Amino acid sequence: MKQRHLKWRLFSLFAMMALFLAGCGESFLTTLEPKGEGAEMQYSLMMISTIIMVLVVLVVTLIFIYVIFKFRHRKGDEDRIPEQVEGNHKLELIWTVIPILLLIILAVPTVAYTFKLADVTPMKAETRDEDALIVNVTAYLYWWEFEYPDYKVVTSQDLVIPTGERVYLNLKGADVKHAFWVPTIGGKMDTNTDNINQMWLHAYEGQEGIYYGKCTELCGPSHALMDFKVRAVPKEEFNQWIDSMANIDSTVEGEIAQTGEEIFQQSCIGCHAVGNEGSRIAPNLSNFADRTRIAGVLDHNEENLKAWLNDPESLKPGNKMSGTYGELSDQDIDALTEYLFQLSVDKE
Ligand code: CUA
Repeated sequence: MKQRHLKWRLFSLFAMMALFLAGCGESFLTTLEPKGEGAEMQYSLMMISTIIMVLVVLVVTLIFIYVIFKFRHRKGDEDRIPEQVEGNHKLELIWTVIPILLLIILAVPTVAYTFKLADVTPMKAETRDEDALIVNVTAYLYWWEFEYPDYKVVTSQDLVIPTGERVYLNLKGADVKHAFWVPTIGGKMDTNTDNINQMWLHAYEGQEGIYYGKCTELCGPSHALMDFKVRAVPKEEFNQWIDSMANIDSTVEGEIAQTGEEIFQQSCIGCHAVGNEGSRIAPNLSNFADRTRIAGVLDHNEENLKAWLNDPESLKPGNKMSGTYGELSDQDIDALTEYLFQLSVDKE
C-alpha cells in the first residue's frame, strides 16, 4: 500500500514538473509572439482551435456536472427512472449539427491559410515576379548555406532578408534530411535530399531584428546545435548589404591577420570559401565577422573562435570539420582568429 502511494506521488510530481517545464523555453523561439505574416496566420489558427476546444470542454463539463447532481441516487427514490431521451429527434439533431458547425469554423480558415502559405507563384519560372527575392537554402550536417542566385552572393549561418516583403526560398538538404524553422516569423519545411521544397518568409516592416532558426529534423549527434539566424533589416539596408557582398573586398590589415590569411589559403580553402573563391562544402566565411554566433551556437567572440579551432569535435560532435586539418599551434590559431574577425561587410 505504501509502495503504491509513493508511486502515485512520484507520478503526480513528474506530471506537475512536465506541465511547469513546458512553459520554459527561449522567448525568441516562440510561435506565440508572431512578427511575420506566416507566423501570424499560424498563430490565429492555433487561437481559433484552442478557443473552440476550451469551449467544448467547458460546455460538456458543465452538462456533466449538472447531470450528476440532478440525477443522483436519492434515498427513498431508488426506483424512479428519469425520462428516457434516446431517439429524440431534436436532441440528435442538435448534437450532430453543433460539431459540424464547429468543424466548418475550423476548416474554412485552415484551408484558406494552407493555400496562402503554399503560394509560391512569384518564384515559379512561368509566373516569375522579377522583384521577388529568391534565396536557395541548403542544409548540411550542422550548418546552413544561403545563396542569393540573382546577385551571385553566398553566405551561411545568418540569413539576411529585407522586412516588409515575402522572400521566397528553395529548400534542400545536401546530405541527409533536415528541416528549416523560424518560429517567430513563420514557416517550417523539410529540406530533402531528393527534391526542392519551396516556401516564403515575411517579417513585417518595423519588426527588424534577429530571429532564431532551428533544424527540426533529427539529423545526427549535433542536431540540437544546428541553429541559424534570420537577420531582418529594412529594405535599404538589405540593398546595401547585398551590394557589399556582391563586390566583396576581403583584404585584411596588419601582419598577424595577413599571416592568418596565408594559413587560411593553405589549410582551410579546400572546404571554406571567402568571397567567390574556394570550395562550398563548408560555410562561406566572406562576412564571418558580422555573424551572431560561432559555429551557429557559441557567442561570437575571439575566445570561442579559438576554442572552436582548437577542438571543434568537443563543441559540435560529428561535425565535418573535426580531423580535416592537422594540429594548429596557438600562434596559428591567433593569426586565423585575427584574420577571420576582419572579414566583414558591415565595417565602415
Ligand atoms: Cu539538421 Cu537536425
